[in-house]
Amino acid sequence: MSTTEKQTDMLCFYVNGKKVTDQHVDPETTLLSYLRDKLRLTGSKSGCGGGGCGACTVMMSRYDVITKTISHLSVNACLLPVVQLHGAAVTTVEGIGSTKTRIHPVQERIALAHGSQCGFCTPGMVMSVYTLLRNNPHPTMEDITLTLAGNLCRCTGYRPILDGFSTFCQESSSNGNADCCRANGNADCCRANGNADCCRANGNGDSGQANGNADFCQKGTEYNGALDLFDRDGLLPLDETQELIFPPELILMSEAQSQARQEFHADRQEGDRQVHADRQEFHGDRGSWVFPVCVEDLLHLKSTHPEAPLVLGNTNIGPEMKFKGVLHPLIISPIRVKELYDITHTPQGVWVGAGNSLSAMQCILGNVVKSLPDHETELYRALLKHLPSIAGVQIRNVASLGGNIVSAFPNSDLNPLLAAGNCKLKVVSTGGSREVPLNEDFFVGFRKTVLKPEDVVLSVFIPRTRKWEIVRSYRQAPRKENALATVTGAMRVLFGPLSMVTEEISVYYGGVAPTTLRPRMTCDLLTGRRWEEQTFREVYQVLLQDVDLPPGSPGGMETFRTSLTLSLMFSFYLDVLTALKHMGVAVDVSPADCSAIEPLPRTFTPSLQEFQKVPDTQSEQDPVGRPIMHRSAVSQATGEAVYCDDLPHTSGELFMVLVTSTRAHAKIIEVNVTEALRVPGVVDVIRHSDIPGRKVRTMFGYHEDLLAHTQVSCVGQMICAVVADTKAHAKRGAAAVKIRYEDLPNPIFTLEEAIERKSFFEPHRTIERGNVTEAFHTVHHVYEGQIAIGGQEHFYMETQSMLILPVGEDNEFKAYVSTQYPAYTQECIAETLAIPSNRVSVHVKRLGGAFGGKVTKTAILASICSVAAYKTSRPVRCVLERGEDMLITGGRHPVLGKYKVGFMNDGRIQAADIQYFTNAGNTIDESLLVVEKIMLHIDSAYNIPHLRGRGVACRTHLPSNTAFRGFGVPQSIMVLENMITDVAAVLGRPAHEVREVNMYSGPSLTHYKMEFDADNLQKCWSECKVRSDYEARRLATEQFNQRQLWRKRGMAMIPIKYGIAFGESFLNQAAALVHVYKDGSVLVSHGGTEMGQGVHTKMQQVASRELHIPLSKVYISETSTNTVPNTCPSAASFGTDANGMAVKNACETLYQRLEPIRKQKPKGTWESWVDAAFFEKISLSATGFYRGPDCYMNWEQMQGQPYAYFTYGTACCEVELDCLTGDYRTLRTDIVVDIGRSINPSVDIGQIEGAFLQGVGLYTMEELRFSPDGVLLTRGPSQYKIPAVCDAPLSFNVYLLPDVPNPHAIYSSKGIGEPILFLGSAVFYAIKDAVAAARRHSSLIGPFRLDSPATPERTCLACQTPFTQIIPTSRGGCSKPWPLNL
Ligand SMILES: Cc1cc2nc3c(=O)[nH]c(=O)nc-3n(C[C@H](O)[C@H](O)[C@H](O)COP(=O)(O)OP(=O)(O)OC[C@H]3O[C@@H](n4cnc5c(N)ncnc54)[C@H](O)[C@@H]3O)c2cc1C
Ligand code: FES
Ligand code: FES
Repeated sequence: MSTTEKQTDMLCFYVNGKKVTDQHVDPETTLLSYLRDKLRLTGSKSGCGGGGCGACTVMMSRYDVITKTISHLSVNACLLPVVQLHGAAVTTVEGIGSTKTRIHPVQERIALAHGSQCGFCTPGMVMSVYTLLRNNPHPTMEDITLTLAGNLCRCTGYRPILDGFSTFCQESSSNGNADCCRANGNADCCRANGNADCCRANGNGDSGQANGNADFCQKGTEYNGALDLFDRDGLLPLDETQELIFPPELILMSEAQSQARQEFHADRQEGDRQVHADRQEFHGDRGSWVFPVCVEDLLHLKSTHPEAPLVLGNTNIGPEMKFKGVLHPLIISPIRVKELYDITHTPQGVWVGAGNSLSAMQCILGNVVKSLPDHETELYRALLKHLPSIAGVQIRNVASLGGNIVSAFPNSDLNPLLAAGNCKLKVVSTGGSREVPLNEDFFVGFRKTVLKPEDVVLSVFIPRTRKWEIVRSYRQAPRKENALATVTGAMRVLFGPLSMVTEEISVYYGGVAPTTLRPRMTCDLLTGRRWEEQTFREVYQVLLQDVDLPPGSPGGMETFRTSLTLSLMFSFYLDVLTALKHMGVAVDVSPADCSAIEPLPRTFTPSLQEFQKVPDTQSEQDPVGRPIMHRSAVSQATGEAVYCDDLPHTSGELFMVLVTSTRAHAKIIEVNVTEALRVPGVVDVIRHSDIPGRKVRTMFGYHEDLLAHTQVSCVGQMICAVVADTKAHAKRGAAAVKIRYEDLPNPIFTLEEAIERKSFFEPHRTIERGNVTEAFHTVHHVYEGQIAIGGQEHFYMETQSMLILPVGEDNEFKAYVSTQYPAYTQECIAETLAIPSNRVSVHVKRLGGAFGGKVTKTAILASICSVAAYKTSRPVRCVLERGEDMLITGGRHPVLGKYKVGFMNDGRIQAADIQYFTNAGNTIDESLLVVEKIMLHIDSAYNIPHLRGRGVACRTHLPSNTAFRGFGVPQSIMVLENMITDVAAVLGRPAHEVREVNMYSGPSLTHYKMEFDADNLQKCWSECKVRSDYEARRLATEQFNQRQLWRKRGMAMIPIKYGIAFGESFLNQAAALVHVYKDGSVLVSHGGTEMGQGVHTKMQQVASRELHIPLSKVYISETSTNTVPNTCPSAASFGTDANGMAVKNACETLYQRLEPIRKQKPKGTWESWVDAAFFEKISLSATGFYRGPDCYMNWEQMQGQPYAYFTYGTACCEVELDCLTGDYRTLRTDIVVDIGRSINPSVDIGQIEGAFLQGVGLYTMEELRFSPDGVLLTRGPSQYKIPAVCDAPLSFNVYLLPDVPNPHAIYSSKGIGEPILFLGSAVFYAIKDAVAAARRHSSLIGPFRLDSPATPERTCLACQTPFTQIIPTSRGGCSKPWPLNL
């Protein structure tokens, strides 16, 4: 829709120093798609598309004509409409450095510090810190952690990222190294020109020597006396003169526009409706964006088009349009209306233009605070304290003040505080201007305000405070940073001089009603009352009447949210008392109470990573055992690393979008695709009947339809797929498919329902040693308990991605798929298309994380995608959006564990009977194998003589769950450890003592009669105890808890014994193919896929050692089924063990073949031998094979040898818990692991840290929520919280046990990908320990139930503080809960 006769304007902006002009831009295009699709700058990634993950972070720079300054802001390209960039300069990860020119210090440091594993998050991390450094070259660690709050990483555990970037905090020491050839501008430095062979770039073994630095990259370097994982000396210096300058043309353009605007206004007559020539318009297929340049024009537009939203940051409208399908035919974007950014100071306060971003507001208020006496700035300081907790920096940099207010989110952070602070709005329209108080009357309903559609909020008045006025605000969120609040509270109180009697009080809450809520009765009660405990006892009761959250309220968590209103009020009570005391009023504040208002610790301290040095006798060139940087870390940091969706578009390529079921259990009556086929660009709709070959996938005798056609059994089940020329068209086509269902009765969602209705997949599994039933008669105590463990979303940063290309002859297909299991994908595509496997080649360059989620589900998706390619004879790409991925692909199995345990007074457990119910979802997938793995780990690290486990996969109407790192073990052991914690609680003994008396020691037998030696298990435990200073700290914790009433500390030590290898023997084999080319370079192919775990880096190390050549000579291009066939999945922590042996085998063959030549020319070089071998007609290509261990498990006899060996470890964690909110912080974590002789300590420590934090997510924060109709509600980072930087332990120490060679795996190493995930439960048990301490205050002693994840809600309610206890249990409302309790 056009607003005037004007045609679309020319868009002009700069990207990486190059001018971009576009006359035909579609205003719906985001900067991210423009960069990736149009400019082919694929370094910026899409992890969520909604501003929640930071993978798309770029820097946006603008010139301000008034201040004549240039601002640099980190922004999320996925939400930024490209049309808003007119006149701006964008810098992407490609613009700051590349291996072809020079890499930037930010890129270098994240790579060198091993902060890039799968690398999908890395460009975003780089750009966040790059922007920080452009604004502040000397940041503090706090600056860096705050900057990274909006960037998620699923692999690393953040420690190495922080470590790498922390080097910018010590510029003088880390960059001033005179020894670095680069430091003084030496142009010949190996890094100066981005030399790809640079020792830094590739972890290159020989280039270090070339530079006279033999230790570089190859060895752990000495740092502060300890062996360090990376070399902190000689880092590339930060040099501002090297950065791209802001394009002068854009400055001239802005100045000229400003001049024209002034002249226009000077010439303008009263009432003139003439449109300013500078107003820009962009028109697309479905809508237009108009950019007024003055307030008159804005008001005119708004009065003509009152329904058109004003879009500034697009952080509210953008996600609504993208994810909810809201369409706005016209959008008015007043980002160039100067008046919206004006700041006007008055003696009463400051008028802040409503267009200012939240970050700008921080600067404005920061300056105001500096110029005024403290008592006048109470509100400003409260805002300054609160603003950094809103979203991440990238969002705050664009989200506007006016947008936040008008969006009127019920849990808005700003509205309660602005309302409590007596703020008002200047509202303008063509009808005039008026002031509107921001108070309870402003909010009239869910996301509705008193404003009329044509109203524009011009500015917000934020008043100064008066003497004796105190303002505070509080929030509680599912994650400490970058999370929408669960509840916010803001309060203001005014006293008479030196009085404790309130004269005025204002209280507002967010998150407890459809609008920002003023608890009227509470405010009335508090007015004119003394600020004392007695008053507040009444206040809490009245507040309970003001806040009405009956069961079934939208958002759920009714009791928790109600309790938060009380505890936030209590915090305000204490805060005010403390403030009054400082003001000289004679009040008593109990020191024990004060803990309620102290912030949780948040300062990161240096961490230790200890590993064994390689023997002095080892050749300098031999990289095995050294902390070699991930081979692609540099290209990941420069954005050059290619992921599936980075592959260039091919001619005629189509995009596929899936249509999924909206019903959990229903018959499909009709699928009507008529409308869909009419959508422009739509080419076809792929249905079940289009599948030429097998239409089902069969596992354990159960069939699963690739596309449902008669019936659906979960919301999210795939029914058909729309292919179109673009993703946008395919999405519109998918939305136009009409499906009629007939609901079937009684869907099953929860485990309780499945158990009651006996909805199980067969077979059940049972395992037993000893005589459990009899043993229960011989023990001192018998206790029964249970724990529910929630599921987990993989949240690999790269969503499911694939591109299937028909070659055009003989039914040949090339499939580029982000999969962990290329051979299975090949097999599935072949059988789906009814063609032989030799016509399908599957190629995998790298994956942006997988964690088990890219095996079976990917194969199904690739099969459907291949049908689309087959039917249309065109290349078809499918990349799931985050929400689709979460909805369709399932995750970790939720588990209900019930146990009966018999034990002696001294803590020895004699008998345990444990039952596991797993929620498999609607298909069996790998659920039976998950149940088996659960059964195999029920003993964990403990020798329980009489032990029985029973497990079953429950069939429900939820999306089918699948493999996930740990494959059932994290759920299995969690139940056992909970049981042990209960035993300790019954006996009143510390849990670690009960663990110790039951732990395996010496030569032992598992419950399935596999022999092992528990020595290293014991060593990990005792070493961890020493390293963590456990006893002393435990004592200190107890003392802390005695002193503090509302803050409790807890500690836990948890061991792990984890079986490595596949129980299905055939999966343990591996193969490799090694080519040596005439120039001496070596190409290795093997069956493992690189998904961040560093398998390619390790394989290069293996080849380097075996061929006795530098690492730089070895290259791995991709994993493909046409180089190495019939491979096994990269899973079960067995990738290095299996593929390493196969690569070794191939290299040995080649090395032996060269032996005669080496003997002839002993002084020759590798290149000369290879060259000679060619002329001697010696084959320079060899395959390698590894048969793998013959593992087996006989379930009838309940015995076997399902593993090759065990990996052991122990974690000790300490947390501090805020009992009033359930918020906690991990103060310190020490992990000791036996991984044999590490092939690459930096990679292995990376796996340990990353898995640990993923475990912390599983057990403490990641919560999948389904509606009572089985609809997944948590479909993105806004609703589903994975750990962020703030969740990393403040001190995170990892020790690899020395001198523990493992005879069962390559170079005496051990598999490590999965085992440590379970140790994240140490945080859960430390929280539980802290909760137990809190409960003791209420005289609640003994075992209590705390389900996993221990979210703030569960934790807070388990603490049973007086605030949770006074909430009436029966509060009416509907019986249907808001989310299901799975
Ligand atoms: C990932 C993410 C995390 C977030 N976290 C938080 C959080 O922790 N706490 C929190 O409070 N919020 C949070 N938000 C919400 C965010 O703060 C708001 O979306 C933002 O402030 C809205 O501003 P905007 O400029 O982007 O609005 P836009 O999307 O541009 O516009 C929003 C609406 O406001 C109206 N509007 C805007 N300006 C005016 C004006 N001057 N006059 C009249 N109407 C106007 C528009 O018409 C439109 O309807 C988050 C958002 C995202 C995407
Ligand atoms: S992709 Fe932009 S924030 Fe996630
Ligand atoms: S390295 Fe951060 S998501 Fe993989």
